[in-house]
Amino acid sequence: SVFESDYRGIRTSQRVFVPIGEDAELWDVTVTNTGDAARDLSLFGYVEFSFHTVSIDNQNFQMSLYAAGSSCADGIIEYDFYYEPWTYHHFLAVDQPEGFDCRRDDFIGLGRTEANPIAVEQGRCSGSAGTTGNHCGALHHKVTLAPGESQRLTYILGYGDRAVGQRRRAKYAAPGAVDAAIAELAQHWRAKQARLRVATPSQDFDTLINTWTLYQMETCVVWSRFASFVEVGGRTGLGYRDTAQDTIGASLANPAKVNQRMRELLHGQMAAGYGLHLFDPLLFAENQHPDIPVGVKLPTVVPGGAADQLHGLEDACSDDHLWVVGAVVEYVKETGDLGFLREVIPFADEGEATVYEHLKRAVDFTDAHVGAHGIAQGLRADWNDCLNLGGGETALVTFLHVWAARLLAETAVALGETADAAAYTAMANRVAAVAERELWDGAWYLRGFTKDGVKIGSAASPEGQIFLEHMGWAVLSGVASRDHGLAAMDAVHDKLASPYGLHLCAPSFTTVDDSIGYVTRVYPGVKENGAIFSHPNAWPVIAEAILGRGERAMEYYDALAPARGNDAIERRRTEPYVYAQFLYGRDHEWYGRAENPWLTGTAGWMYQAATKYVLGVRPGFGGLTVDPCVPGEWTGFTLTRRWRDAVYHIEVRNPSGVSAGVAQATVDGTPATLTTDPLTGRTSVLLTATTGEHEVVVDLG
Ligand code: NOJ
Repeated sequence: SVFESDYRGIRTSQRVFVPIGEDAELWDVTVTNTGDAARDLSLFGYVEFSFHTVSIDNQNFQMSLYAAGSSCADGIIEYDFYYEPWTYHHFLAVDQPEGFDCRRDDFIGLGRTEANPIAVEQGRCSGSAGTTGNHCGALHHKVTLAPGESQRLTYILGYGDRAVGQRRRAKYAAPGAVDAAIAELAQHWRAKQARLRVATPSQDFDTLINTWTLYQMETCVVWSRFASFVEVGGRTGLGYRDTAQDTIGASLANPAKVNQRMRELLHGQMAAGYGLHLFDPLLFAENQHPDIPVGVKLPTVVPGGAADQLHGLEDACSDDHLWVVGAVVEYVKETGDLGFLREVIPFADEGEATVYEHLKRAVDFTDAHVGAHGIAQGLRADWNDCLNLGGGETALVTFLHVWAARLLAETAVALGETADAAAYTAMANRVAAVAERELWDGAWYLRGFTKDGVKIGSAASPEGQIFLEHMGWAVLSGVASRDHGLAAMDAVHDKLASPYGLHLCAPSFTTVDDSIGYVTRVYPGVKENGAIFSHPNAWPVIAEAILGRGERAMEYYDALAPARGNDAIERRRTEPYVYAQFLYGRDHEWYGRAENPWLTGTAGWMYQAATKYVLGVRPGFGGLTVDPCVPGEWTGFTLTRRWRDAVYHIEVRNPSGVSAGVAQATVDGTPATLTTDPLTGRTSVLLTATTGEHEVVVDLG
């Protein structure tokens, strides 16, 4: 990020970035005199240090204050927790400072704020430091600039003690080192972007897919839910379902991080098959921080030790474990790393098994936990946190069950496990038949049943007659017949569509009903109760593409696209380059305003919807399928896709203005054999080379 200002003849630019391989943030600051006269300036670099973890600060703040200390020596400010000597931080500038302050209240002054610090007003720091209290890092530099002259300073805020700071200072003091670090970081991202580049008739689509959605998806995988301004750091841990879903698209650009997350999630699975809904991977010995001495007891007792993170069925969600099946299978399809499936990973509570066996336990768990209609039990919640069905049943999880069982059968084929392939195909077909029989409501699919057998999401329901999140999955899982799929998606369009995206349910609930869940206690038009919830908006894009309706798929993609908020920022009020968790729905006065940007499963799923289903280039165990479904008005698009060690340059042409179906294709100038879907008759191309560079031309028609 670059922060720029122009004020009374002084132009400043502060580029903030984390160099590859360092636990540190660099501030690359340039100050320029744009006026006619020489200027004598004082520059103050300032950071306020935080304290301990949010739970200790909130329960025992006085101890956090008494345990914090700071000092400045050799121009490096060091901040520590006395009782946790492994929590050192440093703040320094590559150029020796004129002065410093380590005590926040001495730098800012009594009765003042960061808007008018006393040190800045007086033009000098007081050299404060010591033990206990509120600490900061403040460094003062004096700079004289002739007209037109610039000076560049480098600040470093890092993890580690003063000695680590000295090493870093020496590293970035070397001529060209900061520029090299910026170039290395840019190259790191360019390499990710190069794995998939698209050029379509939609500039917004290209900007989001080539840069921003890729970036947001990876951010979700890296941060998980550990760091966020809307979650204040007190609920740290891997959200099981969110992390699993985020990884599905990200194995394209960051397979190593995805592999780490999958190992953590699989280790966070109970031997019974369900996942720990929110858990800190530090729970497991192999993830513990190497700097933290074993056996050290903190003076503040925070209730809730490691064992408390292992929860029973009463806190299990009915969907968590099923997403991991998709995550692992997509990772293997992307990377070809079949060996990962045979690696052994422990369960959270007892025992260990191969990754493949973990996936079987996940699918078998759902198979064993069905309700009176044969539909999956709702448990504490499913994807929808606020549908708390307890002994009731959930359509969404039944559709996910079919999806996961089919993926597992496909994996079994790839591994040569023929008995499993047959067993999981039979399971998928059996569950799909139950779902079609029990869940079809006449014009769309029910959302489920309460524990008393009352239908949820039915035309007969007084409120919450139709829900969004499971409807696309009826198609995606292959459960829906073509007629039911088309009808259900038409109902979604009729009842849930808006110019800003699809509503999660309608009409919003206004009457509390705890047999349905907390959703009935949320204000109408907010979050799960009738907001435009972003994440499940991606699934209808996929469903419409599978059904061959390219206009609809793009209508939904465009409605939610953050870039579309660029010219409506007064309404949307959120960065126009990232997805937000939701937008207020039509039942709320803030209709169309976006909330909770960045950490949402939307990025990963929209990336998949756009690239694997609209552009239609999706990896499988044995090849890369090209099966686009675009608006008829698109005359074509191009795409460069790296898959394993191959690079494909794909040109898709649409001379007759259709949405889907490949009329002919060539690979390196040779006509390709087309594959025909036995159910729909839709034709596609399968690219099987895993090495080399290839030119592919595809004509729709
Ligand atoms: C946010 C949660 O992080 C996610 O797991 C959940 O699926 C959605 N809310 C919908 O309830």
